[in-house]
Amino acid sequence: MFGIIFLWRVKSDKLAEHDALMKRTLAVERERAPEVLLNLTLGPAADGTCAEVQVYQDYPSHESFVARAQREDAELKRLWDAFAEIAEPDSWKTIKFESMDFLAGSFVRPVVPIGGRKLTGRVALVTGGARGIGAGIAAALAEAGAKVAVTDIKTAHAKGDLVIEADITNEDSVRAVIDRCVAELGSLDILINNAGIYPFKPVDQFSLEEFRRVLDVNVVGPWLMCKHALPHLKRTGHGAIVNIGSCSGIHGGATPGGSAYDASKAALHQLTASLAVEFGPQGVRVNAIAPGVVDSHATGQFAAEAAATPLRRVGTPADIGRIAAFLASDDASFLNGITVIADGGRMAQW
Ligand SMILES: NC(=O)c1ccc[n+]([C@@H]2O[C@H](COP(=O)([O-])OP(=O)(O)OC[C@H]3O[C@@H](n4cnc5c(N)ncnc54)[C@H](O)[C@@H]3O)[C@@H](O)[C@H]2O)c1
Repeated sequence: MFGIIFLWRVKSDKLAEHDALMKRTLAVERERAPEVLLNLTLGPAADGTCAEVQVYQDYPSHESFVARAQREDAELKRLWDAFAEIAEPDSWKTIKFESMDFLAGSFVRPVVPIGGRKLTGRVALVTGGARGIGAGIAAALAEAGAKVAVTDIKTAHAKGDLVIEADITNEDSVRAVIDRCVAELGSLDILINNAGIYPFKPVDQFSLEEFRRVLDVNVVGPWLMCKHALPHLKRTGHGAIVNIGSCSGIHGGATPGGSAYDASKAALHQLTASLAVEFGPQGVRVNAIAPGVVDSHATGQFAAEAAATPLRRVGTPADIGRIAAFLASDDASFLNGITVIADGGRMAQW
């Protein structure tokens, strides 16, 4: 964390204009600079001096912010230019400070918190995040302010701050993904184990190899991710893991042929509980979501499923994404070891 103080002087006959400009600037910055944790404006004092204090989480450098604000961003530049007209042109001053200690005990209190989105400053890694529910989760985490790394075996359409092609069943790849995430995005606060495969067929048509592959991707992969993410997650003091299970791991699956899938998702729910107990004392929470039917590719082909659901629709990746963002956030700070059933009420019906 670091802060900057901007100082400038406002001409006494321009105070009203200055006030209006401050409000517009704050609105623009709220949109553009989610990394700002705190923005407060002081003054103007009797001589017209104003101070603006900005506190950033993990922003690469205050120089680059100043450069962006004053040169690169056209809209912000217009606002800063307008300030310069109101203020004495040579009264700008930027003071960088590394600690906020000086604010303690002072009369200064934050008046305008900016970037209050609940995952601002957090780094999340989503497995299988290139499409479907994983892409919905990645989008929801980004919307909540997190930096998002996506890993998948097929990354052609993946979107994120960092995209890494990898197979989660390979331990060396898992290590490499986590190391790159930490090296390039600065930390690892949130792990979402979403990647999964779902071949459905009668037992006698499953080869042992196919059955084992389902367990490998749906259980062993998440276990490997948890194992290698733990050292980084616990360092943050607020680490969170969310495993994407399934209603098929709670009851017999929605359709026959799920011997591998249903067993793997039940195992993932149990892994969630076991790791919640093991990781909890280390400050890392572990929860799961059990989605019902989700139209993960927006096919619109689930009319019968929708009709059988009390909410009369199937889920969307965004539905699951919002729940994942909540479970990953401090709003869920006392939730540990639970599986949230997200099925529109389907399993509540008997
Ligand atoms: N869609 C549903 O109705 C539904 C319901 C309940 C649970 N789920 C679970 O939600 C998760 C996502 O489902 P979806 O419908 O979005 O599926 P999907 O097939 O669209 O997405 C899964 C992603 O995981 C990736 N993946 C597969 N194996 C991988 C591996 N070994 N390493 C890395 N990435 C790998 C795939 O490339 C794909 O991008 C799965 O775990 C699934 O079991 C889905």
